Amino acid sequence: MAKIDFKALKNKAQKDINLAKDLKELDEIFRKYLGEKGELRQILHSLKDLPQLKRKETGKLANQIKKEIEETLKKKKINIQNLISNIQKQEWVDITIPGKKLVLGHLHPLTQVKKEVEEIFQSMGFSVVEGPEIENEWYNFDALNIPKDHPARDVWDTFWLQSNQKIPNPKSQIFTPYRPALLKKGGAGAGRNPKIQKLLLRTHTSPMQIRYMEKNQPPLRIIVPGSVFRHEATDTRHEFQLYQIEGLMVDKEISVANLKAILAEFFKRFFGKNTAFRLDPDFFPFTEPSFNVSVTCVICEGKGCNLCKKTGWLEMAGAGMVHPNVFKNSGLNLNPPAGEWRGWAFGFGLERLAMMKYKIDDVRLFRSGDLRFLNQF
Ligand code: PHE
Repeated sequence: MAKIDFKALKNKAQKDINLAKDLKELDEIFRKYLGEKGELRQILHSLKDLPQLKRKETGKLANQIKKEIEETLKKKKINIQNLISNIQKQEWVDITIPGKKLVLGHLHPLTQVKKEVEEIFQSMGFSVVEGPEIENEWYNFDALNIPKDHPARDVWDTFWLQSNQKIPNPKSQIFTPYRPALLKKGGAGAGRNPKIQKLLLRTHTSPMQIRYMEKNQPPLRIIVPGSVFRHEATDTRHEFQLYQIEGLMVDKEISVANLKAILAEFFKRFFGKNTAFRLDPDFFPFTEPSFNVSVTCVICEGKGCNLCKKTGWLEMAGAGMVHPNVFKNSGLNLNPPAGEWRGWAFGFGLERLAMMKYKIDDVRLFRSGDLRFLNQF
């Protein structure tokens, strides 16, 4: 039998043990050296073939090495166990503790209501389109049949931009005439020349009636949600900035009956029940005839309260049949035959809708930033 290099064997074993990273590796090392088929075991087995004296000497040495390897293994094992228990202590989690709830934000109530309104109209075939909040005088007033000296301008008093004020995006649609031919001197849209137009914060979403009809041929069905601005003292029902939802439908032979049908369906779906509404005669320069649309006050259910000024009804929208001048000013070619095409339009106050739906009695709450209010939605 060749000479056994116990020292080398021991060194090799110790090196292996040092490198071991976990108990499983230690187990394998144990098996490799001390196990049934391990290297040391095999040496011990082979001792029987040695002469007695040599056997005794080698046996003693082998046993000593065995003990030393066992010892090192044991130490390393304790080492690894300590490490594990330290990690466990540090990383201990009590899986029975209830989890920390993540506070999720949510959409502003006005955004929620806006989305809801959009979905209802979309399901009735209306497209949702948007327009610029900085508008020019032509679209906001003149094209809607509100000339400079018309008293109706007082209703829509607003914020004008100074003529030298810089506009963030000079290429924006405010300056772009859709049908340049209309700019021709004396043409229907001569007044719209963007170069001579004064700019303002739009007072209503109605300018989009013109803008949309300039670009599209009927039949048309659109709603236009967006911010509008008015020079107004605030109170429980008035704000200087508010949302409107404009509606416009142009089709053959349509009438106020169609408008009423669409409004009835909208109110039913929005309020979740058959809500009584009525049309009262009103005046808007861009519709003829014009109405204002009221619904039964949800707060008092028609009995009369402070919000509805004891009338039992709350004004929700302006509406009417599109005035011929509006068609004309948008350059819409309604032939043939022009007489068949009619249109109706409405303009809802989104805040009003939200107030009715959630029984909110002060419009100023929406933009107060008060979380006690907002968190209720
Ligand atoms: N633009 C009107 C307003 O702001 C509302 C309206 C829209 C009226 C469409 C008639 C038709 O008061």
